[in-house]
Amino acid sequence: MSGLKEKIEKLQERFDEAIEGITDEKTLQEVRNLYLSRSRGSVSSLFGELKSLKPEEKPDAGKEINALKEHVQDKLQALQTQLHGPKVVEEMVDLTLPGEASYIGSPHPILIIQQEIENIFLSMGFSVEEGPEIETDYYNFEALNFPPHHPARDDWDTLYINDDFLLRTHTSPVQIRVMEKRKPPIRIITPGKVFRKESPDPTHLPMFYQVEGLVVDRGITFAHLKGTLESFLKVLFHEKTKVRFRPSFFPFTEPSAEVDIGCTVCNREDSACRVCGGGGWIELLGSGMVDPQVLKNVNIDPEEYSGFAFGLGIDRAAMFLYQIPDLRYFYENDLRFIRQFLQK
Ligand code: PHE
Repeated sequence: MSGLKEKIEKLQERFDEAIEGITDEKTLQEVRNLYLSRSRGSVSSLFGELKSLKPEEKPDAGKEINALKEHVQDKLQALQTQLHGPKVVEEMVDLTLPGEASYIGSPHPILIIQQEIENIFLSMGFSVEEGPEIETDYYNFEALNFPPHHPARDDWDTLYINDDFLLRTHTSPVQIRVMEKRKPPIRIITPGKVFRKESPDPTHLPMFYQVEGLVVDRGITFAHLKGTLESFLKVLFHEKTKVRFRPSFFPFTEPSAEVDIGCTVCNREDSACRVCGGGGWIELLGSGMVDPQVLKNVNIDPEEYSGFAFGLGIDRAAMFLYQIPDLRYFYENDLRFIRQFLQK
């Protein structure tokens, strides 16, 4: 038995030396034959020697030869993988099968519209600014001319984190943050998420996307506001889109106007239209001339400068552009819905 044991050890040493530095399939095959070939392989012929051992020595000797065989097989397999990649994969891939197209993703419809809106304003010389979604009462309300306890706050009710912090109800606070840091001329848009105390229904959500805009410079008038928004809406929707301004109220603008567009679905011709409810108009934006008090709050002299501001819901715009009947579809993340939208 001890003679056999020595033989096994020697053989293993020789094998380990033999496989070192093998880089080609031919040599690998030769070594495999030399050691494992059924008739002549040195490992295989060791099994023949078992016959000459005493019966009680056979089990241990068998185990040792098997261990050597496994060692040799594992090493050869590892080398094979190193040279060619896993054999299993080579054998299993059927290259003649038809391929399966992989889905590489597509932008979310709200992002598509947000980018379209940004591109239109970038082409008009605006820049894109962002700000925090958790705001202070000062930036969300007070600096925008909502005094504490003023009833106008009711329309912008939101979730308060504590007495000082809340989820912003509009992106107007970004306008304040930019005006604090920069002197006019200012021309910015501020896209982002906003939050309100709303129960979800087809046209309301407690979280949605908004883009607001602000222009402050010498001699800015309501004509600039009207011209800018009309041009913007005609590019976003259609050059024949009708635009209408209605008087409105916002604490931070004076005068203020709501901006409607002629219904994109019925073209103001269907009294039973499900999108505009038959009224022919779709309410899309809030707007107005920046209240002089808001300019004072950020140390911009309202005698020297004036400005206009506006805000629109991106989800709402996307809803009309893609004719989606329910805002909630945007957030259910059903891939069958999301995959339909391609960049225009
Ligand atoms: N902040 C307003 C809103 O969220 C929109 C608005 C912006 C109105 C700027 C007028 C001027 O409803």
